[in-house]
Amino acid sequence: MAAMIPVKEFAARRRRLMDMMVRDGIAILPAAPERVRNRDVLHPFRQDSDFHYLSGFDEPDAVLVIIPGREHGESVLFCKEKDPARELWDGFLAGPEGAIEQFGVDDAFPIADIDDILPGMIEGRSRVYYPLGRDQSFDQRVMDWVKIIRSKVRSGSNPPGEFVALEHLLHDLRLIKSAAEVRVMAKAAEISCEAHVRAMKRARHGGYEYNLEAELIHTFMSHGARSTAYPSIVGGGANACILHYIENDAPLKEGDLVLIDAGCEYECYASDITRTFPVSGRFSAEQKALYEVVLAAQYAAIDAVHPDNHWNRPHEAALEVLVQGLVELGILQDITVDQAIEEEAYRPYFMHRTGHWLGMDVHDVGDYKIGGAWRQLEPGMALTVEPGLYIAPDNTAVDEKWRGIGIRIEDDVVVTKDGCRVLTNGVPKEIDDIEALMAG
Ligand code: GLY
Ligand code: MN
Ligand code: MN
Repeated sequence: MAAMIPVKEFAARRRRLMDMMVRDGIAILPAAPERVRNRDVLHPFRQDSDFHYLSGFDEPDAVLVIIPGREHGESVLFCKEKDPARELWDGFLAGPEGAIEQFGVDDAFPIADIDDILPGMIEGRSRVYYPLGRDQSFDQRVMDWVKIIRSKVRSGSNPPGEFVALEHLLHDLRLIKSAAEVRVMAKAAEISCEAHVRAMKRARHGGYEYNLEAELIHTFMSHGARSTAYPSIVGGGANACILHYIENDAPLKEGDLVLIDAGCEYECYASDITRTFPVSGRFSAEQKALYEVVLAAQYAAIDAVHPDNHWNRPHEAALEVLVQGLVELGILQDITVDQAIEEEAYRPYFMHRTGHWLGMDVHDVGDYKIGGAWRQLEPGMALTVEPGLYIAPDNTAVDEKWRGIGIRIEDDVVVTKDGCRVLTNGVPKEIDDIEALMAG
C-alpha cells in the first residue's frame, strides 16, 4: 500500500529545515541502529523519528546529510548498496540509486564510502547541525570527520567552528503537524479505537489482563499497524493505580475496573488511548462516582484546547474539576478546592500531567515552555488529554470503599483554528455507552 505521506512532503520538510539553517551550514543525521535482542536475534527495526521525518527512508546503516546550496544536490543520503546475495536473506535494499528514485533525495552514495566523502562535504561549512550528545559513537564519528579536515588546515582546508544540536530546529518543525500527518494520526487513532472496542467487548471475569492485550494486538496487526506505539498497559483492579503497569498477567475479577492504555503506531505515527471500564460490564456506585469526576475533568480539558490558550490551560481546567470532585466525595477533607490546588494536596490521587505532545513519538518532541512561559497552542499541534484519579489500595487516609480504584481517560486531539479535533471518538467513554457496548 502506498505510504500516506507523499515523497514531496519529505522534500518540503528538508527545504524548511534548510531555511532555518545558516546558508553555509551542514546537517548530519544518522539512521537508528539495529539492536540485538538476544544472540543473533534483533529487535524489530524502527527508524529514528527525526530521520524518518526528513527522509521517509526506513533502513538502518544510513546517514542523511543536508547541505544548503550544494551544487550537486542539497539532500544527500548514504545508505547500503544493493546486494542480491544479502537481500535474499535479509530483504530488499533500496541502494543509492533507488534512494534517489524512490525517496527523492538529490544525491546518494554507498554508506561504506562515507569516511572518504563526508569530510569533503563538511569542509568549508561553518556550522554543523547534528544530534549532539544523543549517541556517543556518532558524536565520535562526527569528531573523527572533523579531525580529518583539521589535519589538512596547513594545506588550506577550512574546518567548521560551531556544532549545534539539530533538534532545536527540527523539533519545532515536528511539533506542528501537516494535513497529511494528521491523516496518518487519525488512521492510527481509528485502528486503536477499534482495538479498545474489541477489548471492552471481550473482557470477562476469569480472563487475564494479557487476554485483552492480545485482543488489542490482534486489531492493530489486522490493520497493518505492526507495532504498538509503547508497551500496552492493561491493569485490572488496583493494578490501574500503577501508572506504567505492563506485567499484564493478573486475572480479571468481577467487580473490578480494568484500565487499558494502548495505542498502535501507524507509518511511524503514534496513537495513545486510555479507557477504564468494569470487567462485569456494570460500574459500581463508587466506580461511577469517581469515573464521572475524571470524565468531567477530561471534557473540561478538551474544551480548553484552543489557540487562545497556552499549553497548561487544559491541565489547569482538568485539575480544577478533579480537585472539586475529590473534595465533594470526601476523599480530600478539611480543605478548600483552592487550598488543595495551591498545596498540591491532590498529588496522592493525581500525580501526572494532563497530557503531552503526540506525534511520531508517543511523548513527542517540542518545547512546552518558551522563555520560561507556557507555550501558546497553535493549529496543527497534537496532544493527549488524559486526566486520571488513582486511590492506592493501601491509602488508609480515605474510606475503604474508594481504595484500589484507578481511572484514566485519554484521547488524542489536534488543535484547530477554533478549538480542537478529537481523533479518538471511536471508542466510547460515557458510562451509559460503555455499559451498552459491553451488554451488546
Ligand atoms: N501511554 C503513555 C502515556 O499515556 O503517556
Ligand atoms: Mn497513554
Ligand atoms: Mn499519553
